[in-house]
Amino acid sequence: MAAWCASGSLGAAWTVPAAADDVGATVFSTRCAVCHGPEAAGIPGAFPSLHDQIGEFAKTADGRDYLAMVVTTGLMGNLKIGGVSYLGVMPAQSGLSDAEIAAVLTYLASGRGKNPAAPALTAEDVIAARARHSDRSPQATRALRPPYPDS
Ligand code: HEC
Repeated sequence: MAAWCASGSLGAAWTVPAAADDVGATVFSTRCAVCHGPEAAGIPGAFPSLHDQIGEFAKTADGRDYLAMVVTTGLMGNLKIGGVSYLGVMPAQSGLSDAEIAAVLTYLASGRGKNPAAPALTAEDVIAARARHSDRSPQATRALRPPYPDS
């Protein structure tokens, strides 16, 4: 790395992606892993895995809205993921900042950091999603889930 980016504001900007990833990993392990499992593999029939579908949802505006609203309102309604049905309730995850919500969703969309080229969510995406969806209930959020094969 050139010396000019080792210090000063440009250097700081270069460290942002890694830092956001760390935040996402930390939020995941402290807030989500208790249900979704340490590797986001879930427990079939009880807690869904958060694997390929999250990266797919992150690619579209509707999908990003859905993801942001799941964390904001929680989720309730029938889901089918990988051929397994879920009729559970995810509680709203309060106490997270917009940046933390964006970071944990980016972490999941990237396959827990394994695919850094995956689309990232920003705090602005989370704020905009909330502004677009005033009907904030776990059931209303279920209705936002984009079509996904096998679901
Ligand atoms: C108390 C348990 C619990 C916690 C904690 C929890 N979830 Fe969930 N989550 C669930 C359940 C249960 C579902 C499925 C709800 C249903 O069947 O409608 C779900 C569904 C989801 C979905 C929808 C997946 C899909 O394919 O549509 C996403 C995304 C998600 N959770 C992300 C998170 C994130 C991110 C966190 C941490 C910030 C988190 N969850 C914390 C229980 C939990």
